[in-house]
Amino acid sequence: MAEYAGVIGKEGIKASPKTRREFLMNAAAAAAAGGLATALPLGCGGRKAGPGPQAAAPTLSAVNGPRSLRAHAAEHGMLVGCAVVPEKLDGEPDYARTVAEQASILVPENALKWAALRPAPDQYDFRKADDVVVFALSHDQKVRGHNLCWHEAIPSWFAGTVTKDNAAQFLTQHILTVAGRYAGKLHSWDVVNEAIDVKGGRPDGLRDSPWLQLAGPGYIELAFRTARQADATALLTYNDYGIELDTPEQIDKRGQVMMLVRRLKARGAPIDAVGVQSHLSAGDAPGAGLQHFVRELREMGMLVFITELDVNDRKLADSVADRDAVVAKTYRDFLTMMLAEPNVNVVLTWGITDRYTWLNGPKNARPDGKPERPLPFDYDYSPTPAFFAERDAIDSRRRSGHPGSDPYAPFSPGQSGSRSEYQ
Ligand code: G3I
Repeated sequence: MAEYAGVIGKEGIKASPKTRREFLMNAAAAAAAGGLATALPLGCGGRKAGPGPQAAAPTLSAVNGPRSLRAHAAEHGMLVGCAVVPEKLDGEPDYARTVAEQASILVPENALKWAALRPAPDQYDFRKADDVVVFALSHDQKVRGHNLCWHEAIPSWFAGTVTKDNAAQFLTQHILTVAGRYAGKLHSWDVVNEAIDVKGGRPDGLRDSPWLQLAGPGYIELAFRTARQADATALLTYNDYGIELDTPEQIDKRGQVMMLVRRLKARGAPIDAVGVQSHLSAGDAPGAGLQHFVRELREMGMLVFITELDVNDRKLADSVADRDAVVAKTYRDFLTMMLAEPNVNVVLTWGITDRYTWLNGPKNARPDGKPERPLPFDYDYSPTPAFFAERDAIDSRRRSGHPGSDPYAPFSPGQSGSRSEYQ
């Protein structure tokens, strides 16, 4: 009998007063602190100024309230947000304040992955995931689930427990339990993540993952059908990386993703959206190939989400100011192109502050050891040029109330307003 841990009991959300009160207390403290900080440029107020340019940082008032990303996104019929770490939401007022101020949608960076949720084959630990949902609910934010089926972040017990005989059952049980727990409360789910690997050489492009080995190629359709069974409303998403650019490998991979989506659609499997992760490098210029991909998906009545945007500056050896300028241009050009497409209505960055980006982790750090600056807020919670580029790109999208700007209006060719109206 599977055991459950978390503030959202089997009978639904019942945030434990301790956590909630504790969190709201922190939030209040943060707000109070924020009040003070409003008067002082960011990076001051006694905190040791972190790395980064000592130029006059914009004040909080320049990026909060009506000037925040979430306010501008609401103006333009879209959602904007970031990946979050629950421990920081609860333990770091600046982090909680920035997330609360800037995001209208959140995704747990790791808390909804198998490795975090499944300490043992018959156990679930929802505490961290619940904290993200409770935070979001108390800040009128939507939540994306990431992810129900992936070849990474697999618990250590998996290899010795999941076999060809029980893999489908394990996958089904996990999805019914996890997606069922948050049924009706999540904006969308990454049902299957990164299942395509063109280097594997399979005609269908499928990655040679434990799920493929144990459950066969049908595991993807099974995952989507089970997710719909568990949650009637969440937008079910296939999420992948390395499909943004017009390089031979990415063109090939994008083609395989499109073929996978077409196969699922042809079999009547419930899939609503494709997540384009968008882990870009400074100077990258996604172009016509991706634009065509997005429009083809719109023809199929599908949405496109930018799910994990960040721009690494690993290859740039210049000054911080020069690096920031190239990173910001990459944000501006990419988002302006994507947000011109009516079926692109959700943008999440993979984190909100450079202080906690995975790109400064051991595997990805810059060769010169300098911290990466891939996100809208730097180490010290100062908005970076990328913040203003992201906000400007949001402003370039058609205003809400324009036909086709409702983030929840499922797109289907020929739906209200002629095709040309969207062009
Ligand atoms: O929670 C454990 C902790 O208990 C343990 O002490 C510590 C040391 O081993 O590891 C912690 O788990 C780490 C987890 O992040 C939480 O911090 C894992 O080792 C580490 O592998 C994991 O990295 C995450 C990675 O996905 C793998 O799940 C990164 O933070 C996260 O940014 C990254 O995100 C992925 C997306 O899910 C999919 N697309 C690409 C993206 C970047 O790789």
